[in-house]
Amino acid sequence: MTIYTASTTAPVNIATLKYWGKRDKKLNLPTNSSISVTLAQDDLRTLTSVATSESFSEDQLWLNGKLESLESERTQNCLQDLRDLRSKLELSDKNAIPMSKWKLHIVSENNFPTAAGLASSAAGFAALVAAIAKLYELPESASEISKIARKGSGSACRSLFGGYVAWEMGTKADGSDSKAVEVASREHWPEMKAAILVVSDAKKDTPSTSGMQLTVATSDLFQERIQNVVPKRFEQMKQAIVSRDFPLFAELTMRDSNSFHATCLDSYPPIFYMNDTSRQIVKLCHQINAFFNETVVAYTFDAGPNAVLYYLQHNETKLMAFIYQVFGQNQGWELKFSAQDLSAFKDY
Ligand code: PMV
Repeated sequence: MTIYTASTTAPVNIATLKYWGKRDKKLNLPTNSSISVTLAQDDLRTLTSVATSESFSEDQLWLNGKLESLESERTQNCLQDLRDLRSKLELSDKNAIPMSKWKLHIVSENNFPTAAGLASSAAGFAALVAAIAKLYELPESASEISKIARKGSGSACRSLFGGYVAWEMGTKADGSDSKAVEVASREHWPEMKAAILVVSDAKKDTPSTSGMQLTVATSDLFQERIQNVVPKRFEQMKQAIVSRDFPLFAELTMRDSNSFHATCLDSYPPIFYMNDTSRQIVKLCHQINAFFNETVVAYTFDAGPNAVLYYLQHNETKLMAFIYQVFGQNQGWELKFSAQDLSAFKDY
């Protein structure tokens, strides 16, 4: 019995221009384009290995060592699309092994606690789809493959690329033009760093799909956001990345996080993802930037209370000293950032 295998990793991506709203729930087609930064491979990532053999009797998935169901419609859509592409390849190449008809065994592991309230579905679906595409030796580009990952979890399409990534919403009803593209590689802006402040590791109270549906159906502000705000911001943010303009990138990122959470608050009944600590972080970031009279840091919040901070490497020590001053009593902090003279900041 021959077993064919392939492995790949996909990192978590954190949106700086948020995807919030579906125009087609089954195909995960968004109501606006979005932009994200993919974290480094050795930070938060999913490692997925896949195996296939004629002798396997059923598709199986082990997630962080536990056998999980593959029954969800989204997972099934991804597997079907990948098998369809493989079977097309087999039809055109008579020597290709007929693995499109065989069952798959999938082993997937996150290098971060799945329960930490950090977006794991993006990395998870991206790694699943990329590993099977590798096993099947599919000739399609990463953008083509991203359309399949998108059906698993919208934001997953962006984890198919490293660095700075745009998800172009597309206009077609079948989703054939709704895909991820690279804006710039990671090497383009090596100074950029991200830090995650884990405010709570509780499960989020409103899952993103139902949250989006509620916002689309009930928020007036949402229409303003997708029609007049995001299209312009999408172009500006790409430009800020291309020209490595941190102050502009930071302002657009913070404004977009605020705009997204405002539409959540404007949903009826309202959705609250941020909590008091999240708001304290927002205030602290603005105070740090005002204190230095320089844009040192940008914050962004997804569908939960945890903050992601973006900053440039050369500002790390001074930024972390301030964060430590306020949150240093919490678990996970090392004293290495406490050397800064914080006397001028003691009023916080
Ligand atoms: O891809 P989903 O369904 O997990 O939704 C992601 C939504 C946000 O994380 C809030 C925004 C984004 O663009 O990633």
